[in-house]
Amino acid sequence: MISAKVLVLYYSRTDSTAELARHIARGIEAAGAEAVVRTVPSVSPNAAAPAEPIPPSGPPYATPDDLRSCDGLLLGSPTRFGNMAAPLKFFLEQTSDIWLSGQLVDKPAGVFTSSTSAHGGQESTLLTMILPLIHHGMIWAGVPYTLNDLFETDTGGGPYGASHVAGSQRTEGSLSDDEARIAHALGQRVGHLAIKLRNG
Ligand SMILES: Cc1cc2nc3c(=O)[nH]c(=O)nc-3n(C[C@H](O)[C@H](O)[C@H](O)COP(=O)(O)O)c2cc1C
Repeated sequence: MISAKVLVLYYSRTDSTAELARHIARGIEAAGAEAVVRTVPSVSPNAAAPAEPIPPSGPPYATPDDLRSCDGLLLGSPTRFGNMAAPLKFFLEQTSDIWLSGQLVDKPAGVFTSSTSAHGGQESTLLTMILPLIHHGMIWAGVPYTLNDLFETDTGGGPYGASHVAGSQRTEGSLSDDEARIAHALGQRVGHLAIKLRNG
């Protein structure tokens, strides 16, 4: 059985989405797959601003090759007006050649988000993130209700993907137990699927 490489690709400005990414990565590793964690740079209204060559801390910036070489993908963004954040969309809009050559077809994908408020657009954000991945021919992996946390959670996490309700005061380690377990389970599911699909 050949292992699989699952890309965890996200944007996070204040670390909430990044915290979900860390739980997801542990779930991927628990499935026996390799988690490759990458982020994307901020975008600036000043088009002349030079892009930072490497992030000052944390995971490296993603390259198109990271996407090309993955066997599965977890895509994460803060909720911004019920939508994914511009930096992630900007990255995705540079993937036309990968789309044209069908390099993501039949690979599993999941999505995750963090928002301030519980009813501030998490589900619509998850849907906006999965749409381009469906265009890429990926297979959407949500979170099934066989995971009891989906019935229990009064914070984030649902069938469309992992999520975190961050509130207005950001603190490290602020994921609820349900949010953390749902994020782990989503990573594990995409990890399992990536291995199975890679091995036919
Ligand atoms: C421009 C902008 C738009 C936002 N829109 C929403 C929103 O629609 N709903 C919501 O609950 N929070 C919204 N937020 C708050 C972020 O989703 C929230 O702070 C999130 O946890 C940040 O994630 P991060 O720590 O990974 O950057 C918005 C924040 C910004 C800067």
